[in-house]
Amino acid sequence: MSSQNQKNEISRRSFLQTSAKFAAAGIYLGVFGMPELFGNVVVDKKDVQIPDVKLNNGVKMPILGFGTYGLSGEVCQQSVAEAISAGYRLLDTAKVYGNEEAVGRGIKQSGIDRKKLFVTSKLWVDDAGYENAKKGFEETLRKLQLEYLDLYLIHRPRGDVKGSWKAMEELYKAGKIKAIGISNFDPVQLDALLSYAEVKPVINQIETHAYFQQTNDFKVLKQHNIQMQAWAPFAEGRNGLFTNEILTKIAQKHGKTTAQVSLRWHYQRGIVAIPRSSQKVHIIENLDIFDFKLDSADIKEIEKLDLNKTQFPEWT
Ligand SMILES: NC(=O)c1ccc[n+]([C@@H]2O[C@H](COP(=O)([O-])OP(=O)(O)OC[C@H]3O[C@@H](n4cnc5c(N)ncnc54)[C@H](OP(=O)(O)O)[C@@H]3O)[C@@H](O)[C@H]2O)c1
Repeated sequence: MSSQNQKNEISRRSFLQTSAKFAAAGIYLGVFGMPELFGNVVVDKKDVQIPDVKLNNGVKMPILGFGTYGLSGEVCQQSVAEAISAGYRLLDTAKVYGNEEAVGRGIKQSGIDRKKLFVTSKLWVDDAGYENAKKGFEETLRKLQLEYLDLYLIHRPRGDVKGSWKAMEELYKAGKIKAIGISNFDPVQLDALLSYAEVKPVINQIETHAYFQQTNDFKVLKQHNIQMQAWAPFAEGRNGLFTNEILTKIAQKHGKTTAQVSLRWHYQRGIVAIPRSSQKVHIIENLDIFDFKLDSADIKEIEKLDLNKTQFPEWT
């Protein structure tokens, strides 16, 4: 090859290499989004596809959502908007959290099409009973500035549960709620409800995390084809969950965080989890659980962490 041809070949190759780098960067940014810098932590904001579960009435629900307990005012509004922007579609609130208005404002701020969201709220104990439940529901809708709810739960099995359930069944049949369910019901309380229910609950939302794995309730709910949903999937970090030695070892093995390992564990069990965070870095981190898999040894180790008791004794 002449020296001129050699030069041409080198510049052609270098052009192709540079183009390939740009193309790769383009694909990376297109597919995975811009890496963002939060404090001194770089987070890849990936395009997330959250798998759905199909509830027993045919309605689909994302298996991972965003919890809002303890968030209020501006922080709540901003966190909800950020969560939606990061890719969450399932939002969990409740009348008793006192933040339904802020959640509603966060939804509006996000600009998302309402139909793309799955919004859950809960009937509080003070509103138990047929008449009160109907009023409680209307108040929830008004505060959230929504026309319908995707899921409405009896928050706790207290008061006139039968009356509450009848009201919720009617609202469901009228199309004001796409699915109805329960929260904090044990198997005996569930049986009582099933003895008179015309509409079977789609979900039971209960405390579930590595320290309280709820293996019995998990089995019972499966038998009834009722989806289990985990509240406090991190036990709110109680009992050192985020720094737990076993979870840390598993996290290091997969290049993930203990939060991500916890959420992946719920996901692999087929349990819907609704982690809460007020920090964008965590909001994004908690979605990034679909690119690794816990193996059977990891699962066995996590099973050893079960203390089989609540980490929230003040709520029982
Ligand atoms: N049905 C019921 O009776 C019931 C009861 C309790 C809760 N819930 C629902 O379940 C949702 C979740 O439960 P929860 O809010 O009690 O607790 P949680 O989700 O187990 O834990 C929330 C805590 O974890 C921290 N956190 C989140 N992501 C993190 C990460 N990647 N790394 C380190 N820390 C992280 C948060 O702090 P930062 O803000 O600093 O990230 C916050 O302090 C609630 O928000 C609510 O919607 C329902």
